[in-house]
Amino acid sequence: MGAMSLRNLPPSERAFATFVILALAAFLAGGLAFTTRQERAGRAQAPAAQPRLMAVLEGVMAPNTSPAEAAVFRTWVQGGATREGFAPVEAIVTNNCASCHGPGGQFPRLTSYEDLRPLALEEASEGLFATLGARGLHLIGFPLVFLVAAFGYLRRTDWKGQTILTGGCAVAVIFDAGQWWLRQGHPGHAWAAWTGLIVLSVAFLVLTGVVLADLWRGPSEGKR
Ligand code: HEC
Repeated sequence: MGAMSLRNLPPSERAFATFVILALAAFLAGGLAFTTRQERAGRAQAPAAQPRLMAVLEGVMAPNTSPAEAAVFRTWVQGGATREGFAPVEAIVTNNCASCHGPGGQFPRLTSYEDLRPLALEEASEGLFATLGARGLHLIGFPLVFLVAAFGYLRRTDWKGQTILTGGCAVAVIFDAGQWWLRQGHPGHAWAAWTGLIVLSVAFLVLTGVVLADLWRGPSEGKR
């Protein structure tokens, strides 16, 4: 057997490697779940389940609206945040918000249709994944996960198939990034999104299996 195997690492480093691989898997799973939800929302043309504007209005900005005024915002948002429906919202914004959010103020400018519509359509922050966004995940996040896992761990196993699996991972990542890049802003071709999801999941599951087996299966070949 090759001299190189993760099994020969000291136990603390093997535990750390296990943690890293599982954390990468969790990140990938969360990211895939997030981008799949975004895909569905894009296809349904439905307003975000919890729009950022409403999350803010019911959260930190709650003191600035009465329940009736908040309902006006909600109606506008749920109606698709159209320009035609903006008038009642504009009246409230001018009254309640412009003192702080007016042009030239110290706080974000949020008084016009153009300012508010993006916040109405944007999904309220889901922490890390929403910050990275679908673009960041497909083009940077997922490729990085595979890069770290493949070159940090898979290449250090003694498994013979590692080159083929590394190639398979590269194909999966390139397919996923490519399909997203080609389709961005154009919902549809759901098969491409699903294929991307499936090839990434399968590739990472196999990689995780190989690395964990190399770490923990069988006796180590003597201590270094
Ligand atoms: C007393 C001043 C004040 C008033 C009045 C006020 N806001 Fe704010 N608002 C703030 C401050 C301060 C922040 C935080 C700014 C920051 O993030 O730097 C904020 C943040 C926000 C944000 C988040 C912006 C972002 O990009 O994350 C939204 C949305 C918002 N306000 C909407 C409103 C709306 C709608 C109203 C009127 C109903 C309103 N605010 C009234 C002071 C105010």
